[in-house]
Amino acid sequence: MAAHDTVERLLLNLRGGDPFADVAASAPSHRDEHGQECGLYPAGPAVMSLAGSFARAAHARTTLDLGCGTGYSSLWLAHSTSTASRLDAVDRFGWHLDLARHNAATHGLGARITFHEADAAGYLATCDTRYDLIHDDAWFAHEPSYLQVMIGRLEPGGVLTMPNWFLLTEAVSDHPSRDWSEFAGSDWRDATLSYAHRLASHPELEVNWITDPPLGVAVRRGR
Ligand SMILES: C[S@@+](CC[C@H](N)C(=O)[O-])C[C@H]1O[C@@H](n2cnc3c(N)ncnc32)[C@H](O)[C@@H]1O
Repeated sequence: MAAHDTVERLLLNLRGGDPFADVAASAPSHRDEHGQECGLYPAGPAVMSLAGSFARAAHARTTLDLGCGTGYSSLWLAHSTSTASRLDAVDRFGWHLDLARHNAATHGLGARITFHEADAAGYLATCDTRYDLIHDDAWFAHEPSYLQVMIGRLEPGGVLTMPNWFLLTEAVSDHPSRDWSEFAGSDWRDATLSYAHRLASHPELEVNWITDPPLGVAVRRGR
């Protein structure tokens, strides 16, 4: 584990470090202040740098960040895409969005990101944009109720990145790093595996899982 962390840090430093480390570093104190409902857990630089590379490779001009929290993921995605591209960022807590707007302005990316206070399902049901890339950080273990409408909001050939798939390794491990029931209920293992099966067998998606750094990546068929 120590060697793994050292290599990850080395590779990050080779790439110039984490430009948004201040935003990620503020998450624990925010969670303490916000309380149990908060759920703000940024995925970290290795995952977000990789998701950003998918956004860049997809030439994403329209990007949606579901569960943007205080903006760490949105900043990575905006930073990784062209200055002509636009990003919608959604979170259910206005408090997170106030901090996200501040963080985006501090990092000079505020003009390219529109923040929406909404539930992911509600936002997807009413928005009329087609996205080149959707980053879904608003689900945990269970298949989200909005899966099908989210796929419908992806352009053909569009990319879905999902940072919470570290849970897949946890679900098949005899010794998970913690008991995820606290966050996802006692059926978290079955729910995680069931959602993986659902994605893998979905006729409109071609899905892959990268295990290190952990990221699920699905491409909408049709182009
Ligand atoms: C794991 S954190 C991710 C934070 C963010 N992506 C980042 O990089 O810091 C999950 C975030 O999703 C939000 N969230 C969870 N479920 C949601 C839902 N159904 N609709 C909208 N936001 C949701 C939480 O408020 C939290 O900010």
